[in-house]
Amino acid sequence: MSAALPVLDRLDRIKLVHGPTPLEAMPRLSDRLGGPRIYVKRDDATGFAAGGNKGRKLEYLMGAALKAGADTVITVGALQTNHGRQTAAAAAKLGLKCILVLTDSVADRSKAYHSSGNLLLDRLTGAEMRRVPATANGDEEMAKIAEELRRAGRVPYVIPSGGSSPIGALGYAVAGEEIAQQAKALGIRPAEVVFATGSGGTQVGLMLGLAAVGTPVTGICVSRRKDIQLGRVKPLLDRTVSELQLDAKLATLAIDIDDRFIGPGYGQPSPAMVEAVRLAAECEGLFLDPVYTGKGFAGLIQRICEGRYRKDDSVIFVHTGGLPGLFVYDEAFP
Ligand SMILES: Cc1ncc(COP(=O)(O)O)c(C=O)c1O
Repeated sequence: MSAALPVLDRLDRIKLVHGPTPLEAMPRLSDRLGGPRIYVKRDDATGFAAGGNKGRKLEYLMGAALKAGADTVITVGALQTNHGRQTAAAAAKLGLKCILVLTDSVADRSKAYHSSGNLLLDRLTGAEMRRVPATANGDEEMAKIAEELRRAGRVPYVIPSGGSSPIGALGYAVAGEEIAQQAKALGIRPAEVVFATGSGGTQVGLMLGLAAVGTPVTGICVSRRKDIQLGRVKPLLDRTVSELQLDAKLATLAIDIDDRFIGPGYGQPSPAMVEAVRLAAECEGLFLDPVYTGKGFAGLIQRICEGRYRKDDSVIFVHTGGLPGLFVYDEAFP
């Protein structure tokens, strides 16, 4: 039951996530970085289909697809999309057909990047994979496929990139509420919640779920400059508030984005990412991924080094998953 966002209890939802996921202290990481107290929200451990953040969004997105009578779901992402993998798995579990539009948008990647990792898992689910060049417009490709299917008497349901529609984003409000409850139970008031932001749904959801307790939320951007990312997150927040008839004040929440950790580009390794992935594994046996959480955690490390938190503050990093992608970047960790 959600006291702050009662709409969550009214939406159609299927059960995918093994939750609540733990909120774990990382004392050796805190020591190594000289404080603050670092906690990790283990959304890599959402359980379904190798875990990660999309399970939470898909609970509502798939609920809506079933309600609409869909027989096919269509979504889009880069070749190693974690969202695509989790969508393909959720469709398989529900007996729906899945079509993945996969854009070959990350240059200079290994052979493994083009066939293994998430792509291997996609194949196992039986999803139909349509690869398109980097120049293709993924939304237009999906619309074309949906139209073909409709003409053939099928019922497609299109899920936007990253599952970041208003109901997808609301799935992450559940995580925000979980964090608020877990922090209260631990007796901490987090100075900040930090995580990797891409399509923006995780950020909007966390902002909405944490609004009632006033915890600041900062997305470390993995793909776009701050102004461009803001141009995605703000409209998604506005649409979520208006389409789901939330309290209009929520649309005025501050949106905090740090864009200093993109490195050479989306999906391209950076020295700070490599260091962050190594540090988490060495200190805590915690495996991050090279595309999202490694860059997100690099952002948190830098924010700690800049003295943004006091030693006795608590900060929460949301581990949003992505482990299958690590195996197709082994050359980044010599
Ligand atoms: C592992 C991982 N972390 C973070 C994100 C970013 O989440 P969002 O797209 O909701 O901003 C993604 C998105 O694909 C992801 O796969």
